[in-house]
Amino acid sequence: MRSNYKTALQNPVFNVLSKAATALGLETYVIGGFVRDHLLNRGTAKDIDIVTVGSGIALAKKVAEILPGKPKVSVFKTYGTAMLKTGGIELEFVGARKESYSENSRNPSVENGTLQDDQNRRDFTINALAISLNDETFGDLLDPFGGVEDLQNKIIRTPLDPSITYSDDPLRMLRAIRFASQLDFTIEKKSLEAISKNADRIKIVSKERIVDEINKILMSPVPSKGFALLHKTKLLPYIFPELVALQGIEEKEGQRHKDNFWHTLEVVDNISETTDNLWLRWAALLHDIGKAPTKRFDKKIGWTFHAHEFVGAKMVYKLFKRLKMPLNDKMKFVQKMVLMSSRPIVLASDVTDSAVRRLVFDAGDYVEDLMTLCEADITTKNPKKFRKYHNNFQKVREKIVEVEERDRVRNFQPPVSGEEIMETFNLKPSREIGTIKDAIKEAILEGEIPNEYEAAKEFMLKKGSELGLTPVT
Ligand code: CTP
Repeated sequence: MRSNYKTALQNPVFNVLSKAATALGLETYVIGGFVRDHLLNRGTAKDIDIVTVGSGIALAKKVAEILPGKPKVSVFKTYGTAMLKTGGIELEFVGARKESYSENSRNPSVENGTLQDDQNRRDFTINALAISLNDETFGDLLDPFGGVEDLQNKIIRTPLDPSITYSDDPLRMLRAIRFASQLDFTIEKKSLEAISKNADRIKIVSKERIVDEINKILMSPVPSKGFALLHKTKLLPYIFPELVALQGIEEKEGQRHKDNFWHTLEVVDNISETTDNLWLRWAALLHDIGKAPTKRFDKKIGWTFHAHEFVGAKMVYKLFKRLKMPLNDKMKFVQKMVLMSSRPIVLASDVTDSAVRRLVFDAGDYVEDLMTLCEADITTKNPKKFRKYHNNFQKVREKIVEVEERDRVRNFQPPVSGEEIMETFNLKPSREIGTIKDAIKEAILEGEIPNEYEAAKEFMLKKGSELGLTPVT
């Protein structure tokens, strides 16, 4: 049966593509993510992949000629591909090919092929769906592997034997897991086994590509689905040995600690219900990584993870570096969240003004994110405790607002400047200035004085006299 999907091709750019294909006499199709997402009603993709039986570069140039404004074509000769941008869309062109990949690199050696050859060499049946752009067949769907059925049954399956598809390009192992997580699909058993068997081949994939996929897993509705698959297929140790180290429960003298790996995944799922901030989701993923190296058993108090937040924050840096992620303010944000991840918990049992002021002072603008992380960290299955912890954090949140309104210590600026201290006591730059400034800050955080100029000035004079200093005016 011929299925027609003209409705997918309403964007006028497809008519231009069709015209160019006719002009060059080239069999041409839209393929991949655009078709998949259209059939899944996932909105309109901004990247459109075009495959032609012939030269993708020639087709791209022809399309650019017809398009208004004649956009620039970027040509990637080595890969035989070309790209152009038009009306917020990125068109990628490739000539249909038979590919064979070498063992040690993801770069294929390419031979020209038919559409069927090209579809064979794609990663999944759901990504091998092609819609014709030629005049007589405009909108016809070519689905040689039952991709539409797999979309309906929510299955990730490879067109060829999975061991061939994955060893052709090991990144696809991660893509399979990413799609399963993103779309809530199941990976076919055969495929899952092939991933487990080939897991070590992930070593040849660049860190940047790995991180792209991890980010997509983290941004999926229930990220634990992807991480559980990474764990099951044994890919996880190659990417996050720190998380693997959290797995397991130890028991000594009748005392057990929780499995911090599965706990972490629950926290990531929880936080994903309330935030789309990728970096806050990263913070949830890494918030307990310091627990493996700091785990001790103490006969009196049981299992301890002393200073795990501090150790964990240091590990964040190493992990980002290893994965070639930028060591920028996002990394610092994740570090800060990990470092402070237990602070509100300690506070919750005794919410004093000064402790809340210190929390807001230290967390600055990230105090709400920190509270979100702590709330996501509540994974107890005891409903009474669950309610109690949430109520406590609610109290902390209320106190934060109250203290904020009164004391404004977020992004704290000292009400009396270093220059004023120097002028008042006729001091050259010296240690006393720091001592007085710190004492003012402490007095404000402790609630001894309000965060106001007059009170801070008076306190400065008092502190100065304690240090044996006399004001000059
Ligand atoms: N593809 C492949 N093997 C890969 C990467 C991509 O076979 N390792 C093919 C698939 O047919 C895919 C198409 O190239 O659909 C386009 O790839 P890409 O743009 O990376 O992904 P999409 O499938 O479009 O999905 P997304 O945009 O969600 O990444």
